[in-house]
Amino acid sequence: MKILVTGASGQVGSELVTALARKYGRDSVLACDIRRMPDSDIQFEEADVRDRDGLGKIIRDNGVQKIFHLAALLSASGEKNPTLAFDVNLLGTWNVLTTARDQGVKQVIIPSTIGVFGPDTPKKNVPPTTIVRPRTMYGITKYAAELLGDYFSSKFSLDCRGLRFPGLISYLSPPGGGTTDYSIEMIVAAAHQEPYECFLREDTRLPMMYMQDAISSLIDLSEADSSRLTRRTDYHVSSFSFTPKELEEELHRHFPSFRVTYRPDFRQEIADQWPESLDYSAASADWGFKPRFDFRHMVSDMISHLARPKVI
Ligand SMILES: NC(=O)c1ccc[n+]([C@@H]2O[C@H](COP(=O)([O-])OP(=O)(O)OC[C@H]3O[C@@H](n4cnc5c(N)ncnc54)[C@H](O)[C@@H]3O)[C@@H](O)[C@H]2O)c1
Repeated sequence: MKILVTGASGQVGSELVTALARKYGRDSVLACDIRRMPDSDIQFEEADVRDRDGLGKIIRDNGVQKIFHLAALLSASGEKNPTLAFDVNLLGTWNVLTTARDQGVKQVIIPSTIGVFGPDTPKKNVPPTTIVRPRTMYGITKYAAELLGDYFSSKFSLDCRGLRFPGLISYLSPPGGGTTDYSIEMIVAAAHQEPYECFLREDTRLPMMYMQDAISSLIDLSEADSSRLTRRTDYHVSSFSFTPKELEEELHRHFPSFRVTYRPDFRQEIADQWPESLDYSAASADWGFKPRFDFRHMVSDMISHLARPKVI
């Protein structure tokens, strides 16, 4: 089986292709992106998801049967360039879904995001079905992509699945322009013994997850028995919630002289629209989702890796 990963050079993609290669064999994985993956021996094709013909050729030539569609512009980048976010996130997803349908691809997995929520969404323990109404181009396009996945599943029997990630924390690749990027930046600064200026207010509580758990959740959802799935493209997954101040205090336990100043910018308005915590009971019941890392374990694991050379 050939598995295509779009957006493979990004924060999630670069770790997903490694995990897929480990699980299914290196020859099973085909990475594509508009920029080349650094230091990888996985088969790579340069591809722009806005180019339907180019994407179709890659899928056809390689006999792709499963797609993890990760190519996207994230929340902060999307607000800086809404036209590009619309083209990549929405038209790109349309191209992936129509090409997958036309070429008999068996399954398409599309990660979504807490960015689909808006200011009217409840704040705590938010279930997948709730008030949504996003106000950012990222949220609008990712919510539409969820609905397209549902549509292609019911109308064309294409097996589309997806989950809403919270902020993702990792040490291998730099984050790609999201509102929760502060968490990685703060841990990296502490590990490098540098002060940090945080672009969110110190009391901004957001749901988060460590990358190892995020990668497992994508693969587990893809492998889940379809007869057990009660949802399609909007499973919630999450591990813990914290504020910038709580992360600063946890980092003080490791680096007592670490200092953070707070200077909220335009990303505060985005964060203020998102929930504090997610209800992920459907993912647990339907396909056994259970995060391995808690907050403290995540911070100490990040620090132990950042202390080694050649990380961000
Ligand atoms: N990182 C997070 O915290 C987070 C949280 C929630 C959801 N997600 C979702 O996970 C997925 C992956 O996000 P990520 O964090 O790896 O993002 P990222 O920005 O790190 O990576 C996205 C990749 O897409 C590529 N790309 C951009 N335009 C493209 C195009 N036109 N054609 C092909 N590739 C293109 C970029 O080069 C980049 O490598 C996205 O769908 C995102 O919505 C991420």
